Amino acid sequence: MAPAAPSASAVPSAPADDPNASPDAILVRRTLAEIAPVSDQVTSYFYSLLFVRHPDLRGLFPVAMDAQRDRLLKALLTAAEHMDSPAVLTGYLRQLGRGHRKYGTQATHYPAVGEALLGALSRYASSSWDDETEGAWVRTYTTISQIMIDAAAENELHAPAWWQAEVVSHDLRTSDIAVVTVRPDQPYPFVAGQYTSLETPWWPRVWRHYSFASAPRPDGLLSFHVKAVPAGWVSNALVHHARPGDVLRLGPPAGSMTVDHSTDNGLLCLGGGTGIAPIKALVEDVAEHGHRRPVQVFYGARHDEDLYDIETMLQLQSVHPWLAVRPVVAEGPSQGLTGQLPEAVREYGPWHEYDAYLSGPPGMIRSSLDALKGAGIPLERIRHDSLEELVGAIG
Ligand SMILES: Cc1cc2nc3c(=O)[nH]c(=O)nc-3n(C[C@H](O)[C@H](O)[C@H](O)COP(=O)(O)OP(=O)(O)OC[C@H]3O[C@@H](n4cnc5c(N)ncnc54)[C@H](O)[C@@H]3O)c2cc1C
Ligand code: HEM
Repeated sequence: MAPAAPSASAVPSAPADDPNASPDAILVRRTLAEIAPVSDQVTSYFYSLLFVRHPDLRGLFPVAMDAQRDRLLKALLTAAEHMDSPAVLTGYLRQLGRGHRKYGTQATHYPAVGEALLGALSRYASSSWDDETEGAWVRTYTTISQIMIDAAAENELHAPAWWQAEVVSHDLRTSDIAVVTVRPDQPYPFVAGQYTSLETPWWPRVWRHYSFASAPRPDGLLSFHVKAVPAGWVSNALVHHARPGDVLRLGPPAGSMTVDHSTDNGLLCLGGGTGIAPIKALVEDVAEHGHRRPVQVFYGARHDEDLYDIETMLQLQSVHPWLAVRPVVAEGPSQGLTGQLPEAVREYGPWHEYDAYLSGPPGMIRSSLDALKGAGIPLERIRHDSLEELVGAIG
């Protein structure tokens, strides 16, 4: 879990010299380098072109195009920059294409976005723009959009574009954290550790990500742990307004922070704040698979009273001898450890035979990644979700 951290720039960091880059990639990167200093203008111009030329598409986007508006363009540019890494890109773009069905995106909309992209790039990269560069961008955009279009078309055969989900219970655990449980209108297949995108009736077309707080359940219900962030639109609606009977919309499941059942490695899980939700789902998943793999959970919060789900975690620990749960509180006094999660984890171990799962605010994920690498866990055995999934996957 990683709260949305809108980035300041739509343009990926300046590409390093790569002797194996294809001719198209070299041209694409040259454009990106030229537009990097004016990325905000590129984003604004891109959307202006799109909506002036295709006013019908405006209705697919939220009324207020907030700080997150650069995500579409940023993903597009990052994907273009990394067209030479097709394995990682294809998985990401297929998930993105499936996820676009909930916005009402059709295959016929892709050329409009492509035209706006080329219009914005040619205007702001005018010194390096020429026919060859235009050709490189057309080929790159065509490849990217075709992967998304094909994935959406295949997905249409067996899954709805979105699910309606009725709130069946709402449990305010602290003044700003609620556990919200919903009943989807159709079966909702997912794997423990994944997340969904969610839209509330109060903010149409504003979608945010929330992790499933349980492994799939026989009754088909889905639970989320939501923390209301200051001035946050969707989180405040879910914590302070949602009531049983309200109907939300869910997009498809996403994310790869799932248990690798092909190994017997232990699981080292770090959950900060509501990041404990998917960790609890992972514990349930291990329990259901019946393997006695050691699972060590470090549950971090600022104060003791913020450990809103500690009772559930301790209850799981009492029935599963392979599970250890350690609360870690930044500002004591505490019933558990005092300090930051990464330091607490460093004091235990060794962790060589563990896979690591990190879930929480971006700062916690970054510092935990460093600590775990230092403790000898290779990067490929550390799983976490992040908004910048593509960037993270490419490294
Ligand atoms: C993969 C993934 C899984 C997630 N799972 C969960 C989950 O299980 N539970 C959960 O509660 N959230 C989760 N989040 C975060 C969630 O998607 C939203 O970002 C969050 O609820 C804020 O949305 P909002 O619409 O209320 O705030 P916005 O309207 O998007 O933001 C309003 C303001 O608050 C700031 N802000 C955003 N997040 C925070 C924060 N954490 N602390 C302080 N300020 C902030 C923004 O920068 C902005 O200025 C997850 C995010 C990701 C990417
Ligand atoms: C190759 C082309 C495209 C790429 C790489 C892309 C990428 C993205 C990304 C990364 C997001 C952020 C949210 C998410 O992950 O779902 C997004 C949002 C969105 N995209 Fe796309 N997109 C593309 C094409 C399109 C097209 C053709 C449309 C239809 C007009 C479209 C409509 C939207 C809408 C409505 C949103 C939500 C915006 C918001 O929440 O503010 N996208 N896109």
